[in-house]
Amino acid sequence: MHSVLEQLERPASNHPPRVLVLYGSLRDVSFSRKLALECERVLTTFGAEVRLYDPHGLPVFDRSSNDHPKVVELRELSQWSEAHVWISPEQHGSVAAAFKNQIDWIPLSDGAVRPSQGRVLAVMQVCGGSQSFNAVNQLRILGRWMRMFTIPNQSSVAKAWQEFDDDGRMKPSAFRDRVVDVLEELFRVTLLLRDRVPALSTRYSEQKQLRVQGALTKGLGV
Ligand SMILES: Cc1cc2nc3c(=O)[nH]c(=O)nc-3n(C[C@H](O)[C@H](O)[C@H](O)COP(=O)(O)O)c2cc1C
Repeated sequence: MHSVLEQLERPASNHPPRVLVLYGSLRDVSFSRKLALECERVLTTFGAEVRLYDPHGLPVFDRSSNDHPKVVELRELSQWSEAHVWISPEQHGSVAAAFKNQIDWIPLSDGAVRPSQGRVLAVMQVCGGSQSFNAVNQLRILGRWMRMFTIPNQSSVAKAWQEFDDDGRMKPSAFRDRVVDVLEELFRVTLLLRDRVPALSTRYSEQKQLRVQGALTKGLGV
């Protein structure tokens, strides 16, 4: 096992930061999707490589459809990513089911593969009514459970139906300025953390468990 200092001494990557954007609606005209596309445009301007996941066709989480193409696609995108942007509509004071379903399909770990751990995360929500923060607060909790590093800034777009023009672009406003602020912070923090994932996701208790398993395996002569 490498020491923490050795893990931190990795050379800096120079490829464009890889950002996965998830949104939580299956509607034809979806403001969380429009916001996701705006995020893609802004992040691309910063120099990121951005992928948007389309949640259409993703089965409801059943713990068994692991080979479904939409499940495989989502897991591969998360594994590829160095950062995520999560955008959920607020529905009944909560994250939308279509959003939570996507997170439920991303495993914390699958052997050595850890598709979310150590990634940087930005959280956003769209509201139908006045500004509220129920969905972003829940997204932060989800980010903790997925062992991600959620940046402090966040965006909640009130009355989202007023904030986009006929071409789907977000109109100039304090809400849009906040979105750009959030994405800029995400971009910078991703550059700082992305080469540090092994150092950030190594846990004493997991290493201890691995040592116990190793000792048992040797003891059994396997
Ligand atoms: C069943 C339902 C519940 C909703 N609950 C809330 C809510 O609690 N707070 C809120 O601000 N908007 C609420 N809305 C409005 C949605 O957040 C809004 O329509 C949003 O744009 C939906 O996301 P989408 O455009 O990406 O489909 C609700 C809408 C529906 C259909």
